[in-house]
Amino acid sequence: MIQSTIQIKSATPTIRQTECFIGGHWLPARSGKTFETINPATEEMIARVAEGDVADVDAAVKAAREAFDSGPWPRMNARDRGRLILKLCDLIESEIDELAAIETLDNGKPLSDSRTIDIPLAIEALRYYGGWADKIHGQTIPVSGNYFTYTRREPVGVVGQIIPWNFPILMVAWKWGPALAAGCTIVMKPAEQTPLTCLRLARLAQKAGIPDGVINIVPGFGPTAGAAIVKHPGIDKVAFTGSGETAQVIMRQSADSLKRLTFELGGKSPNIVFADADLDAATRGAHVGIHLNQGQCCCAGSRLFVQDSIHDAFVEKIVSMSKARRVGNPFDAQTEQGPQIDKVQFDKIMSFIDSGRAQGATCATGGKRVGNRGFFIEPTIFTNVQDEMTIAREEIFGPVLSVLRFGDTEELVQRANATPFGLAAAVWTRDIARAHDVARRIRAGTVWINCYDVFDAAAPFGGFKSSGFGRELGERGLDPYLETKTVTVSLDLPRE
Ligand code: NAI
Ligand code: MG
Repeated sequence: MIQSTIQIKSATPTIRQTECFIGGHWLPARSGKTFETINPATEEMIARVAEGDVADVDAAVKAAREAFDSGPWPRMNARDRGRLILKLCDLIESEIDELAAIETLDNGKPLSDSRTIDIPLAIEALRYYGGWADKIHGQTIPVSGNYFTYTRREPVGVVGQIIPWNFPILMVAWKWGPALAAGCTIVMKPAEQTPLTCLRLARLAQKAGIPDGVINIVPGFGPTAGAAIVKHPGIDKVAFTGSGETAQVIMRQSADSLKRLTFELGGKSPNIVFADADLDAATRGAHVGIHLNQGQCCCAGSRLFVQDSIHDAFVEKIVSMSKARRVGNPFDAQTEQGPQIDKVQFDKIMSFIDSGRAQGATCATGGKRVGNRGFFIEPTIFTNVQDEMTIAREEIFGPVLSVLRFGDTEELVQRANATPFGLAAAVWTRDIARAHDVARRIRAGTVWINCYDVFDAAAPFGGFKSSGFGRELGERGLDPYLETKTVTVSLDLPRE
């Protein structure tokens, strides 16, 4: 159901933090410049935010360096570090309504999503890593000879963290959690579209007692503030979530300083429905898998492979579910889908839709803008999609599903893997052997069986192939924030 004129009556949370957060101080950009952050539902400005650049990043790195090289954070009892992370979680929980409202205002996602998905998952990730702080330890190694060898796991140092706009607060949590648990200090750049909840969280971290300089935030743009982080010799590691193109730039620009890198990039994830699946559950999974968060998910199930014999019936079910999806004011409790993040993404998605039509796919539902204010797009489904069409190959990052028909498992696996991406996949079947066989053969970092978009802070997430490297969440998520030091001691006794 689509409301043709969208009336936005938004809750108005108070925006308190709009400046750079450096060494525990709120500071305007050195240049004095600011940029506007926009409400994508109304296209109106929410606030002006400090536009950080090289000088601000430099100050932030100095603060983070000092906090790492001589401050208490990496030196304190690990258990105390954990306790401060848990304190931050309690503060986030106590402000959850305000934070949810800021997130929805800045990003456009439905308030119910912010309140029941994004922020609870963010708290869960931080709590999970708060629990890890005092459980990070090395090994003793049985080496040859009269030596005692042990390893220590030490923080990698100052980390630069560059995050996107699709899950603003959740990406802060995924990045801060393992870095803080490991004892690293942070220079973060939130996305220029969505800086507000990141800045609020920095305030809460300070309130929780996390020492000044441990977390520093420089809002600003990618080619300026982002690039300054990437090039800065005082930063030991960069963790980035966003587009593959930007990741390539970051790899080139960080080569001189040999930074450690982890990337969580895009996808074109296959969601595979066999004829023997529970079709109602698969329909809901396919629907959520593509449309969640306005389709702006790196792991969106954007290639829906449906087995021949159920294809037409399944298409009917998923099209009718898409038609019923409520698009509108993200502050309305009934709303399931809000606006896309900005004009750039809106235009890009609409041009993908045009290309789908032009290349001969059938637009079974959707395909148009909703209303004339805000960046709303109808939930869109293309059928008769061929593997080589642009909409079947490229990441659209919007509510646009491509339905592909398949015959048998061999053909399916080959086609599902015929993509440079490898972030996620799902398989729907009642045949347990087939489910695990396909799960093993799909080249992707996450495979869901008879479910979609199930996340847990304890379960690693990340990409094969061009979808990135390194993992976030779980024990593996700590690895990129730790160095391993080997210490070897001679056990030869002095001659008497
Ligand atoms: P982007 O990769 O350009 O931006 C992500 C972050 O990187 C932002 O904070 C941005 O300011 C920063 N950045 C941009 N250029 C940089 C540079 N040269 N050096 C350092 N940092 C830089 O992504 P964008 O332009 O917002 O979206 C483009 C496409 O990327 C989307 O259409 C979507 O396909 C994909 N994307 C994937 C995401 C994911 O979760 N994997 C998230 C956001 C976008
Ligand atoms: Mg960009």
